[in-house]
Amino acid sequence: MAVEPAVYGASERPPRGDYTRAGSDYTCEQDYAAYTEEDHDTYRRLYERQAALVPGRACDEFIRALPSLGAKERIPHFDEINARLRKATGWEIVTVPGLIPEVPFFTLLANRRFPVTDWIRKPHEFDYIVEPDVFHDLFGHVPLLFDPVFADHMQEYGKGGLKAHGLQACELLSRLYWYTIEFGLIAQDDGLRAYGAGILSSPGELLHAVEGPAPQRLPLDIERVMRTRYKIDSYQQTYFVIESFQELFDKTAPDFTPVYERVKALPEIAAEAPTVEAEPAT
Ligand code: PHE
Ligand code: FE
Repeated sequence: MAVEPAVYGASERPPRGDYTRAGSDYTCEQDYAAYTEEDHDTYRRLYERQAALVPGRACDEFIRALPSLGAKERIPHFDEINARLRKATGWEIVTVPGLIPEVPFFTLLANRRFPVTDWIRKPHEFDYIVEPDVFHDLFGHVPLLFDPVFADHMQEYGKGGLKAHGLQACELLSRLYWYTIEFGLIAQDDGLRAYGAGILSSPGELLHAVEGPAPQRLPLDIERVMRTRYKIDSYQQTYFVIESFQELFDKTAPDFTPVYERVKALPEIAAEAPTVEAEPAT
């Protein structure tokens, strides 16, 4: 996907994964035998660091579901997560070699299958990765698939992606993915929390997004999101806040066909644009 978190740098490198392992739907088997003790140790250290930061910063739904990932000391077997996930929401995770193209990505989501990269970053990439790895995909994305409303929303996003593809609107829709599923914030009764995977899997961005003084935090506005560019190589300067996953579901439920048309006719907004924009007088 063209849509991935601030912890990844922009680059022209070819993707790291071995795509000869994958079938035509881009899925493959989790290559568990390929993990080294160093890989398991990397996962354990990433999990431990992040688990210490999420209380009071991640949304309740995430905190509640995190134990469902299972093993913290080693990279989990995806099959074991699936036994719990299928029961909770009917979703399953499938293995992919890395980022995959839009259409197969949307097709998996539309069928309640979430693609998870199986390899893990090397120790020298501990704090900064250029492509999503198993830690980002599992820790960041999978806990919320245990939440029924969020789970339904992800499937609708997949269906909406296939529709956007036919309307040449994938870039606009990817901004929605970026500012919600990757970098979304939620206002809980007891304070602001993160639900976006790019925030939840990054220690620095978690602090910056939830309690940092710098970023602007705006209520979720679909057209505004679709107009707003994003930075992939730094922390976000703009976040969009929802009150509940039901709000996210409801705001994305209308037909986007006319929305895309409107947004395509409007100027883009810079990632760091000030809250009050100078709109041309009409
Ligand atoms: N409602 C959107 C459409 O009609 C699809 C969508 C649903 C997109 C949920 C994102 C999230 O195109
Ligand atoms: Fe992601």
